[in-house]
Amino acid sequence: MKTPNVTNAENYLRLGVNIDHVATIRNARGGDCPDPVRAAKIAADFGADGITAHLREDRRHITDSDILRLGEEINLPLNLEMAATDEMLKIALRHKPHAACIVPEKREERTTEGGLDVIGQIKHLEPFVKTLVDAGIRVSLFIEPDPLVLDAAKSLGAPVVELHTGSYCDAPSGEHQNKELQRIINAAAHADEIGLECHAGHGLTFTSVTPIAEIKTIAELNIGHFLVGEAIFVGLGNSITEMRRLMNVARGEDGK
Ligand code: PXP
Repeated sequence: MKTPNVTNAENYLRLGVNIDHVATIRNARGGDCPDPVRAAKIAADFGADGITAHLREDRRHITDSDILRLGEEINLPLNLEMAATDEMLKIALRHKPHAACIVPEKREERTTEGGLDVIGQIKHLEPFVKTLVDAGIRVSLFIEPDPLVLDAAKSLGAPVVELHTGSYCDAPSGEHQNKELQRIINAAAHADEIGLECHAGHGLTFTSVTPIAEIKTIAELNIGHFLVGEAIFVGLGNSITEMRRLMNVARGEDGK
């Protein structure tokens, strides 16, 4: 298991590159190409601070063998996104990724729709989170930006929450989007107040990333689908470089 190799300067915003959709393209034809582990190596070379991969119950993109290879071949921390099931718990304990992000999962959904129902599932999640934390895995809960859900996450002993940015990214620009952004700003402030590390992700693009990256209490963004899609036009290295630049500018750096 690799731990983050960045000395996390107060203002630095980490970028976790999600490589799931490289595997989606591979699996559309079967076979080995394009290889998500090769994508992870490029991400490492172009400024990613971590690799994120979602091992879904139906293995529609990332496979068990991808997870094994990511652990063996990539010199960056792995953030394993997983549902709170017995099968995934066993896999996480076997691979010991740096981090595990617990997500809700429904077979019929196209992507992770909505955050984890922490309040409704608290009894199920409590021992689940504890087992992962006791194994030395940094647990994060993928949740809606709602202070009550943040409080429930804190009560479970998870050190990190990842705020679902999907509603903000999908909202038509203007008043609706500003309202969704304000929910994220408030939730990130609340996370800081109650001592939770705050991450964010889902649906972020070159356009939507800046207001999220400007929120100083967010420590990490996890971004995948847009980066992989953009890579078709400009190459993966260039797509990650531009995202990294926008994140740096949002944090007040010159973007070079
Ligand atoms: N964070 C979590 C918890 C996710 O489930 C996903 C999607 O797999 C992402 C971040 C990345 O979202 P996107 O691929 O839309 O950038």
